[in-house]
Amino acid sequence: MTTKISRVPRATFRCVECGDASPQWRGRCGGCGAWGSLVEVVVPARPQGDPASVARPIGEVPAAGVARCATGIDELDRVLGGGLTPGSATLLGGEPGIGKSTLLLQTLGHLAAGGHRCLLVGAEESPEQVRHRAERLGVVHQDLWLVAESSLPHVVAHVEAVRPTVLAIDSVQTLVDPDLPGAPGSVTQIRECASRLTRLAREHATATVLVGHVTKDGSLAGPRQLEHVVDTVCSFEGDRHHGLRFLRTRKHRFGSTREVGIFEMTESGLVPVPDASALFLADRRDGGPGSAVAATVEGARPLLVEVQALVAPRDDGARRVAAGVDANRLSMLLAVLERHAGIDTRRSDVYASVAGGLRVAEPGVDLAVAAAVAGVADDRVLAPRTVLIGEVGLGGEVRGVAHTALRVAESARMGFTRVVGPRSLVAGPGVEVVGVDHVAEALAAAFTP
Ligand code: TYD
Ligand code: MG
Repeated sequence: MTTKISRVPRATFRCVECGDASPQWRGRCGGCGAWGSLVEVVVPARPQGDPASVARPIGEVPAAGVARCATGIDELDRVLGGGLTPGSATLLGGEPGIGKSTLLLQTLGHLAAGGHRCLLVGAEESPEQVRHRAERLGVVHQDLWLVAESSLPHVVAHVEAVRPTVLAIDSVQTLVDPDLPGAPGSVTQIRECASRLTRLAREHATATVLVGHVTKDGSLAGPRQLEHVVDTVCSFEGDRHHGLRFLRTRKHRFGSTREVGIFEMTESGLVPVPDASALFLADRRDGGPGSAVAATVEGARPLLVEVQALVAPRDDGARRVAAGVDANRLSMLLAVLERHAGIDTRRSDVYASVAGGLRVAEPGVDLAVAAAVAGVADDRVLAPRTVLIGEVGLGGEVRGVAHTALRVAESARMGFTRVVGPRSLVAGPGVEVVGVDHVAEALAAAFTP
């Protein structure tokens, strides 16, 4: 019952700035308000004849295991669930200068050393510059191929000639398809180039990595638009002024999105940090008020972090500044401390941060944030070798969190002897647990040796 109309090519209009579609031409884009940005896009007619695909009951579909191409960089393989998946497309996003090109070059170097042919297509740096950097990073291997190219049809030709196992594009913002409207970096160009490369990845079973720059305020929306085109979205984060870098996945068709890879940017490139707790606690001076140690969990990995707070009384003070912890969560904890523990910070500026630049999104650090604030507000010092674990509820109750055994074991490994947290905690070798029900009780235990 297909109507004739659907077989005629249809025209639609698309904004080259924001990608918004419109059935008719308009002088101004309804999506972003740009003038004169709509261009005609011809939608191919629906194909005639029978489809090549066949619908089957799920039981008749063979189960496919996901093959992986291990990069040999443990922190990266951990995040990817074992390595890059052949035929998949991965977006590697991050702010300019954070280290995306470095991570990519080291990854390709490792893969090439393992006998995988890799092709790095770059338009931001010349092959000579890349070679120079690769020398410094010690990743010059015969199977790593370089080409400076920004035209999409030429990139496709290079892929067909070189036939790499892994293809990397640095960056997707520099690619341009001359048959499409818009400048390099415009939403239409980025999305179409990425879709074409994603299809190419599947056709050739090539694992493809696309680098995409994102700015801190997210104003450059390009990479965001790509998230549904690719299989995996990784973001490389960190404070550019500190050495630590965190690799996370926001979307991952082939595994968990909960793992984090930790690296340190050094003179000789990115170095994986397998023992992050030691690094996070390295600069900690035991015994200062306003400092508390929390045991958090990222994926399957326990991490001890130092939470610091500063409370500065001011006549007009009410600033709340959170770095590494959620700002709304901090406000909530301050309200709970005021109501249920007698700690009034209403006329104070309050700062709270996780030392080392890690962003902790789970509530298991609540108690440590509360203790750091309470400590600095009352000038009290946390009992030595004490770790805090637990979520704090609106009623001041201390709640259980996931993976408590991992957290207690990590505390013991790092030389802590006491853990204050919810009643469900179980002691481990060398570590005593103090189970509490309420935040005031937790603070009393945390400040008493
Ligand atoms: P880069 O990978 O070029 O960042 P991106 O591709 O995300 O824009 O790396 C940027 C910074 O990393 C640069 O400022 C210098 C620093 N860096 C090191 O500290 N050590 C190194 O070995 C390398 C290669 C870079
Ligand atoms: Mg770069």
